Amino acid sequence: MEQRDNIIINITNMEEQLRHIQQASSVAIQSASSMEELEQVQKKYLGKGGELQSILKGLKDLSPEDKQTIGKYANEVREQVTHIYEKQKSTLHARAIEEQLVTDIIDITLPGRSQISGSAGSRSPFAVFSEECAAVFKKMGFGAWDGQHIVSDYQNFEALNFPENHPARAMQDTFYLEDKLLLRTHTSSLQNEILQTGAFPIRAIVPGKCFRNEATDARHEAIFMQLEGMVVDEGITVEHLIGTLETFLKEIFKRDIKTRIRPGYFPFVEPGLELETECLICGGAGGSCRLCKGLGWIEVMPCGMIHPSVLEMAGVDSKKYSGFAFGFGVSRLAQLKYNIEDCRLMFSAHPKYLEQF
Ligand code: PHE
Repeated sequence: MEQRDNIIINITNMEEQLRHIQQASSVAIQSASSMEELEQVQKKYLGKGGELQSILKGLKDLSPEDKQTIGKYANEVREQVTHIYEKQKSTLHARAIEEQLVTDIIDITLPGRSQISGSAGSRSPFAVFSEECAAVFKKMGFGAWDGQHIVSDYQNFEALNFPENHPARAMQDTFYLEDKLLLRTHTSSLQNEILQTGAFPIRAIVPGKCFRNEATDARHEAIFMQLEGMVVDEGITVEHLIGTLETFLKEIFKRDIKTRIRPGYFPFVEPGLELETECLICGGAGGSCRLCKGLGWIEVMPCGMIHPSVLEMAGVDSKKYSGFAFGFGVSRLAQLKYNIEDCRLMFSAHPKYLEQF
């Protein structure tokens, strides 16, 4: 009897505990306000090692009848609570979606937004202009050379008649590397190599980057684009030089441009010249023009007849051959053509600047 009583107590106890689980879990589930909270409650009552499972551990001590009664009841509780749990889960899920719809508003009727102010940008006007220049020279029979940026002191200076300690070196301070290597200060650094080919008539251009140790401002950059040109053959004269440059300017600016020649000094040309054009901003009027400072003329193209010793240093017979060379700042000419005030924009990738060209 004692044992029987014990079992009766057990059954009553278990039924009560199950009822408790049913009520407590239902309340806790329905008041869960987030998915995490809901999962915790579910685990606590119905999960592995949860309250329901620990009660069911006692089933093995019951008589077969009681086992059936309690087992059945426990299943009902599990089903009911699971049902409430599923319901609450979908309620919380729907609420989360609704909240997201309010906070993450995407107006699908808005037009698409591009990353860079409405345009995919464009090529730098300096690169485009440089190609235009090369194309004009190509039509005149010039071939383009592509030199290295790092050159020897010999190529950049000595072979061009700038011996060590020559004062003209001071105008072309640059970035020096080890072993007498440096960043080329001008595209003239290729003259020696081109002359050495001995492939007359030589008609070569060298467009490319040059470097100088400059304090940068609107008109000076430590990196700039130059275009060198040279023609060497028997009987080449200053007339050929001027004719070539005037033709080039006319082609590139699509109109006649007035020019004049003044002396200039570069150790590798004799005579050394400066080809000046009428001011491209004021048209030669001068006055208070900010570009030509009232002169009406601007220096555009340093040039000259290649110095006999430069020819000789490259193994060219200076009695038989003569030639001219010129080298102008592509950046500077492009600035004049497109009226770009600040040359530092040359290396700018800003869409506001680029999309104008
Ligand atoms: N290389 C010279 C400079 O950069 C320009 C130049 C080229 C002058 C060819 C004469 C002949 O200043």
